[in-house]
Amino acid sequence: MATLVTGGAGYIGSHTVVELQQINQDVVILDNLSNSSKAVLKRIESITNKAVTFVEGDILDTELLHSLFKQYQFDSVIHFAGLKAVGESNEIPLHYYKNNVYGTLNLCEVMAQHSVKNLVFSSSATVYGDPETVPIKESFPTSATNPYGRSKLMVEEMLADLYRSDPSWNIALLRYFNPIGAHESGTIGEAPNGIPNNLMPYITQVAVGKLKQLSVFGNDYNTIDGTGVRDYIHVVDLAHGHLKALEKLNSQPGLVTYNLGTGQGYSVLQMINSFEKATGQAIPYQISARRAGDIAECYADPQFANQELNWTATKSLVEMMEDSWRWQQNNPNGYQ
Ligand code: NAD
Ligand code: UD1
Repeated sequence: MATLVTGGAGYIGSHTVVELQQINQDVVILDNLSNSSKAVLKRIESITNKAVTFVEGDILDTELLHSLFKQYQFDSVIHFAGLKAVGESNEIPLHYYKNNVYGTLNLCEVMAQHSVKNLVFSSSATVYGDPETVPIKESFPTSATNPYGRSKLMVEEMLADLYRSDPSWNIALLRYFNPIGAHESGTIGEAPNGIPNNLMPYITQVAVGKLKQLSVFGNDYNTIDGTGVRDYIHVVDLAHGHLKALEKLNSQPGLVTYNLGTGQGYSVLQMINSFEKATGQAIPYQISARRAGDIAECYADPQFANQELNWTATKSLVEMMEDSWRWQQNNPNGYQ
């Protein structure tokens, strides 16, 4: 039996494939390389000493999906494939809905036809919108402020309908908080195209000299020091969460939703300070205007996942900083 990992060449997917291979799970990666590089495959192989089965292709390609499900004995799918840039989703919303929503629908139809009904879906803390209080529990109301977030919410709702119509499905909706860090080998990590949107890759690119200085988006939020607070989680901890979710699906839980976060929030200034301390690199920054759509504070109550999945994020903020920095130093231009 094997696990199909859509989007397995991407940032979170590649780290999850490493962890799956290290527990001797057979994995097939399906990725169209729209936001990743084939070079990651050799890196995964050199970490795990195992061959990677990779298929270049699209989740929108129904014929290809059928042929894969015929060729391999899948018992589960981890579905990372999707587009994730909030700004871009405002510019080309239909592309986001087609890729993220229709792509998932297509995948589920093919899964159903081949009686593979165990699915782990990459959702996001973005589905909580601007929460009234923190820490955030899974039962909090959901909302979306941009097409990316709405695509995640639509898929969550579609999967809940699917489960209601056919309770033989087992579906884990994993709501990630802010993944950062990289594999400790420094050989795989996050490789954003162009100028990064997210804080951590921006910081490491300033440190390595690719960008001049960081803009801190607002210092007048109602937070510890006025800057935005987020729940940063090491990508390897996140990857382990997927292994635990797969185990959970084997116990046939039905539809389950988990926050994958640490439960600890850090401000932008705390992140800068922590990076400087962990790496000895100075991060020049200036305070600038708030970024549209940003919220003050977002961090998880991860207790439900801790209990139900027997999973806890274990890596410290210092490790997240050191690992992000090692990856960036070794690969100043990502996989190129
Ligand atoms: P990523 O872009 O690095 O990985 C996604 C992968 O999917 C890429 O390799 C891309 O080439 C592939 N892909 C995209 N569309 C595809 C398609 N139609 N068919 C086949 N492959 C396709 O992103 P990531 O950070 O690893 O995120 C993985 C998932 O987690 C995404 O669904 C994302 O929305 C979700 N997520 C990410 C974050 C984050 O901060 N990184 C937070 C919450 C949720
Ligand atoms: C962003 C997305 C969110 C997505 C998440 C993971 C927006 C509005 N939100 O979340 O939908 O799920 O990424 O991909 O884009 N910051 C700076 N300077 C920077 C970059 C960021 O000060 O150059 C600040 C932000 O204002 C925020 C914090 O750093 O307070 C974290 O930002 P980021 O890494 O972009 O993550 P989110 O805003 O949580």
